[in-house]
Amino acid sequence: MTILTISTKLIEGQKPGTSGLRKKTQVFMGPHYLENYLQATWEGIGGVVGKTLVLGGDGRYFNDRAAQVMLRMAAASGAKKVIVGQNALLSTPAASNLIRKRRADGGIILSASHNPGGADGDFGVKYNVANGGPAPEGVTEKIFAATRTITEYKIAETQDIDLGTIGTSQLLGMEIEVVDPVSDYQELMEQLFDFPAIKALFASGFRVSFDAMHAITGPYATAILENTLGAAPGSVVNAIPLPDFGEGHPDPNPIWAKELMDTMFADDAPDFGAASDGDGDRNMIVGRGIYVTPSDSLAAIAANATHVKAYASGLKGVARSMPTSRALDRVAESLGIDCYETPTGWKFFGNLLDAGRATICGEESAGTGSDHVREKDGLWAVLFWINVLAVRKISVADLMAEHWKTFGRNYYSRHDYEAVDSAAAQKLVDDLRVRLPDLPGTDIAGLTVEAADEFAYDDPVDGSRSEGQGLRFTFDGGGRIVLRLSGTGTEGATLRVYLERVETDPAKMHDDPQEALASIIAAAEALAGIKDRTGRNAPDVIT
Ligand code: G6P
Ligand code: ZN
Repeated sequence: MTILTISTKLIEGQKPGTSGLRKKTQVFMGPHYLENYLQATWEGIGGVVGKTLVLGGDGRYFNDRAAQVMLRMAAASGAKKVIVGQNALLSTPAASNLIRKRRADGGIILSASHNPGGADGDFGVKYNVANGGPAPEGVTEKIFAATRTITEYKIAETQDIDLGTIGTSQLLGMEIEVVDPVSDYQELMEQLFDFPAIKALFASGFRVSFDAMHAITGPYATAILENTLGAAPGSVVNAIPLPDFGEGHPDPNPIWAKELMDTMFADDAPDFGAASDGDGDRNMIVGRGIYVTPSDSLAAIAANATHVKAYASGLKGVARSMPTSRALDRVAESLGIDCYETPTGWKFFGNLLDAGRATICGEESAGTGSDHVREKDGLWAVLFWINVLAVRKISVADLMAEHWKTFGRNYYSRHDYEAVDSAAAQKLVDDLRVRLPDLPGTDIAGLTVEAADEFAYDDPVDGSRSEGQGLRFTFDGGGRIVLRLSGTGTEGATLRVYLERVETDPAKMHDDPQEALASIIAAAEALAGIKDRTGRNAPDVIT
């Protein structure tokens, strides 16, 4: 077996975004594309000599091929060991757990998360560091810099490595350990949650529908919900992971998980519905006849944390990304704990979790998690909810009604304009940025601007500063608009408009969010001229 040294040259555009490098699958399959990026990753992290890495992915098209390349390149560059999920599968939170549990130096996750897969879909590669979380910006910048100076990469010449059989093998002195993707994760969940209480709930006839969206959580949810906790067979739907996710869009929101919404709004709806995304880190929570927004779910989880075994002694603090609704802040205030506001991207929670400043974190983009791993965790959120319902003997609808009564309701919605012309989107943001200092005190569509700024974050743990993290506008009376460009798209630009308004009148807790937000929606249009500038009449996706 030999090590090949292949000459290569700079490939433009290998800049990691919000969550690793994400491109069209065909781009990743292009000559030297994946290889360049992996070699740059090795260089960006100071080499892999003597290191132990974890490897897994969400099973999308090209996952299996990319895993073989990663193993051959890790061996060629002197890695000591790679721990890989069977058939190169690991959900993102399970990968995070394995990195931590096995004290690995880091890991490679092959995923484009909730983006569609398949030959014409998206693919992605993400590097996670030793704490199990996504590489911080300092590391991704070094990886990007290395993609710009690369001249060669090293790869072992070998037959395909058998990843279907659990056990260990050697490749050029590097050990490859193939592990069951589910068991370590399941063990962690058993430590966190009251499995006997959940079992009793299912035994009493409580019905659940979990939509795995033909993605990675299928095997995890089947093993845990059905085989261990006793949910009825068939509770997990779309449970077999497929390389193209059944031609679906594995993003758990009311648009893409419509099948689940239909189930949960039908006359004979189960008690609880949930879904997760391509790589298992996002979640969606639905009760019978009620969709819980991610921001509300986060707030409810924080408010009910002491009902759950692992969090019974209380929370050290909580954190949310800036565009996430401020429902969490109201809970934190009443609990007397800190609530941190970070830029979009799970990586910004890592330091807060490591430093013990936050126990639970979440984002409006359907990510919720805690200090049990360093990624958001879809199935964790689902089990958290079911655990709370089991202990409190309450329905989702009643729990949310009670929550809003106690804390007020932060009506919230996100409007996305997808695949917009990049220059037009950038200009929209740039033009608005210039106007920021003049806006406070002015009237926009009948609302008075209280404050307007561009969000920058000073990490309280390591002192690093991240600028340009979204434009935000608050209005008298508790309204807020945030505008930012997505960092995860692969086509043109995606403009995200986040809309929020707090309501404290007990008689107005059950309105339609789009109607409750009508004045804020009008203000966003008046402020940014979105229709004119994007040429769109309406958002492509409303969540
Ligand atoms: C990924 C990240 C999240 C982030 C989301 C939206 O899922 O892991 O942390 O909130 O993308 O990012 P975007 O830049 O597209 O709004
Ligand atoms: Zn994801």
